[in-house]
Amino acid sequence: MNIATAKQNIKTKGFLELEVNPSLDLFAEIEKLKKQKNAIILAHYYQEPDIQDVADFIGDSLGLAQKAASTNAEIIVFAGVHFMAETAKVLNPSKKVLLPDLNAGCSLADSAPADLFKKFKEKNPDHVVISYINCSAEIKALSDIICTSSNAEKIIESLPKDQPIIFAPDKNLGAYLNKKSGRNMLLWNGACMVHEIFSLEKITKLKIRHPKAKLIAHPECEEAVLNISDYIGSTTQLLKFSQTDKTTEYIVATETGILHEMQKINPSKTFIPAPPNNSCACNDCPHMKLNTLEKLFLCMQYELPEILMNEELRIAAKRPIDRMLEISRVAGLIG
Ligand code: 13P
Ligand code: SF4
Repeated sequence: MNIATAKQNIKTKGFLELEVNPSLDLFAEIEKLKKQKNAIILAHYYQEPDIQDVADFIGDSLGLAQKAASTNAEIIVFAGVHFMAETAKVLNPSKKVLLPDLNAGCSLADSAPADLFKKFKEKNPDHVVISYINCSAEIKALSDIICTSSNAEKIIESLPKDQPIIFAPDKNLGAYLNKKSGRNMLLWNGACMVHEIFSLEKITKLKIRHPKAKLIAHPECEEAVLNISDYIGSTTQLLKFSQTDKTTEYIVATETGILHEMQKINPSKTFIPAPPNNSCACNDCPHMKLNTLEKLFLCMQYELPEILMNEELRIAAKRPIDRMLEISRVAGLIG
């Protein structure tokens, strides 16, 4: 396929489909492209290990948003999912933001269609809307403050105790936050397909086989899993806990990509992925894993596919993200 056809295909396929010479050292080629084009690669912890290794910055949603806002690079290559790359464009519009595969969506973001959410919000006009960053720019534009799993508690605390709140789109994170904060936020009925897949029964059996192991979980997991967890936190918080905690064995209830960094920073500890409730032994995010090293290389070479956004939507989506960044700064969560 020639480049003109491949570029045309982005509209239908979402990524550049071109043969990559198998003899190429993609790590070296990507490093060269970074320098040539003044590009930065931002990767989420759920990306495949090769992509994490070639990235300039690996982080959770809060860290990635902050890095995207502050970078001086000309090109931001976002190795993550669509809402993350979109957030980077919202925060730093003069940069070219690339996503290796435009189909890398998010089941949680998809569970909140903007038209339905707008009606829900209109039915509850006295409520302040806090939306988890895992949502579309349209939902962000309908929100008052954005949060991530790293700062959600501080964001909620910033509002008066008697303030009615809508929390969207994750019902599991919302229920966890209601319990922690003692509030009664009105929850949108959305969820992440990866964090809802863990089997309580299999985890319980695994805990019996590994009595010294601690169960550590992301707050997007269902309540039953969170209830038996020893520690709950965002991806960055789980990584920090794995370093500071004295235990040597952990059952990890979040997407498996995080095990790469966990093992790297704790070479002598053992990390066991929490088992899913299906017969396949995988709890990978199918969206995150659409990005590959080959697609990353091609997207940097041809500077496609690019995230483009309507300016009116961008400005409306930026306001609640700026509010989140400001509250996080005041709370000392970011520098
Ligand atoms: P954090 O990395 O912010 O904890 O988010 C997890 C997640 O589900 C990202 O899609
Ligand atoms: Fe979305 Fe869940 Fe995948 Fe994160 S892990 S990108 S929340 S589907």
